Amino acid sequence: MRKTFTLGLGLLLIGVSIGQKHPDWVKKAIFYQIYPSSFQDNDGDGIGDLKGIQSRLDYIQSLGVNAIWLNPVFKSAFKDGGYDVIDFYQVDPRFGTNSTLVALAREIHRRGMHIVLDLVAGHSSNQSAWFKESMEADTNLQYSNYYIWPNFKPSDLTPQESTRWVETNAPRGKYYVKNFYDVQPALNYGFANPNPNHPWEQSVDAPGPQAVRRELQGIITFWLEKGIDGFRVDLAASLVKNDPDKKATIALWKNLNQWFDEKFPQGVLIAEWFNPKQSLEAGFDIDFLRTGRLTSAYERGQKAAAKVYFSKLGEGSISDWVSYFKDQYESTINKGYVSLPTGNHDSPRMMNEERKDPAEAKVLLTFLLTQPGVPFIYYGDEIGMRYIPNSPDVEGSHARSGTRTPMQWDGTKNAGFSSADTSRIYIPEDPDPKRPTVTKEEKEPGSQLNYVRALLKLRGSSNALGNLGGWQLLSDTTQPYPMIYLRSNDIEKYVIAINPSGKPVQAKIASLQRKKTAYVLGTTDKCRYKMSNEGDMIIMPAISAAIFRIE
Ligand code: NOJ
Repeated sequence: MRKTFTLGLGLLLIGVSIGQKHPDWVKKAIFYQIYPSSFQDNDGDGIGDLKGIQSRLDYIQSLGVNAIWLNPVFKSAFKDGGYDVIDFYQVDPRFGTNSTLVALAREIHRRGMHIVLDLVAGHSSNQSAWFKESMEADTNLQYSNYYIWPNFKPSDLTPQESTRWVETNAPRGKYYVKNFYDVQPALNYGFANPNPNHPWEQSVDAPGPQAVRRELQGIITFWLEKGIDGFRVDLAASLVKNDPDKKATIALWKNLNQWFDEKFPQGVLIAEWFNPKQSLEAGFDIDFLRTGRLTSAYERGQKAAAKVYFSKLGEGSISDWVSYFKDQYESTINKGYVSLPTGNHDSPRMMNEERKDPAEAKVLLTFLLTQPGVPFIYYGDEIGMRYIPNSPDVEGSHARSGTRTPMQWDGTKNAGFSSADTSRIYIPEDPDPKRPTVTKEEKEPGSQLNYVRALLKLRGSSNALGNLGGWQLLSDTTQPYPMIYLRSNDIEKYVIAINPSGKPVQAKIASLQRKKTAYVLGTTDKCRYKMSNEGDMIIMPAISAAIFRIE
């Protein structure tokens, strides 16, 4: 540990810039997220697999993405879609073998792309050999202290803490602490301020928590040495317990990230933290922002679409979003990358009961794919797959199954996802006979799929529009429609205007004092940019988005 600390200090003294700390390839990275059980079934068992993914790499690459994140593929009891890992060193047989994964990574690299796996750092399955050994009465076994074993339940637990205590009749103790479902016992990274009256609360540098950290390093090393480019780290903020300000968790990750950067300078670690100010401080390369306050009423626990910014109703506001985004983005600008994903396996898709019209999806995609930071496209969002309400609960998905339905490739059986009998498909396909498919959209020049391709091509052609290009809001937050922002660097300037509302709108912005503007891409070339010395004017039809180059 001392060695990595010294190195960290060395880097600090010479000034860490984004180029030095993060792998070069991330500067241009655009990710495609795949839920492996739902993408492509190669062996005909009704569940997606790694060979299936490999067979679709031409398509993935044709989108203009250059990196792939796979949701968990390790051996699992699948009580939480793979987030309950039994063996962190083995690919689950449903997906293939370790060699299939290595072959997939090799093929991805041959195409100049990168592959990132999901690392469930915070817990394992209760079926793992570690947990089984830890349950034994003997506390001196190799994995005895990998988990947290309280022998009584203190009366002053907060209600939230209390839900994490699982009662058990294991010889080891009366309770264990879990992270999510009961079958996901929390790994023991220690407590921020161990209470001496609670003997199960070990300090972060006690032998148990230190052994767990070494195990995590072992897992990372094992896969990086096999050719994997990094991990998205599940629940990264949750490792150290009783750590409300996250200081101890940040310190733990700082340490791990320094070790990682030294050992794997081309590797990437992406946090599932939803707070880049903390996670990038902790040394992660990328962290996600929550876009729900702009795009969805679901995430705010509301049913109605009212007041969502990205809604034809046009009644939303952007002031909340802008202050959240500016704060996160501006405080982390030199530390790493934020990300505004199109969706993920945990939240309803962007096409859902609130948003059904592909025209609206294009406006939202224009916004998401012209943001600074690293874009993530959730499989199927590029063709407008919709969230399917009331999909059956599969492997602990609950309502999330509506977001995990099989990829819709074509008009053949099971939408080309699998040759299995339809009754055996992992989660039923979207039943709508008019459901969008890749083959349909390939043929339509104006399809959502081709629009996504055009957006990514443009983004890839310009550093100003890319991950490290600057961002500045040009419009007034008190007049939210249209939202207008600048993406720029020393060489180029682009103005992006977004009007999700069902009404034509216009807005004046300070003059950019340039000679020429050109509409380069958008939902309609009826969007106008008019220049004058008194100020520039942008005129937008209903439900439209435009990207203008300013010369
Ligand atoms: C976050 C993951 O994204 C989610 O799918 C999972 O259920 C929980 N973490 C628990 O691992």
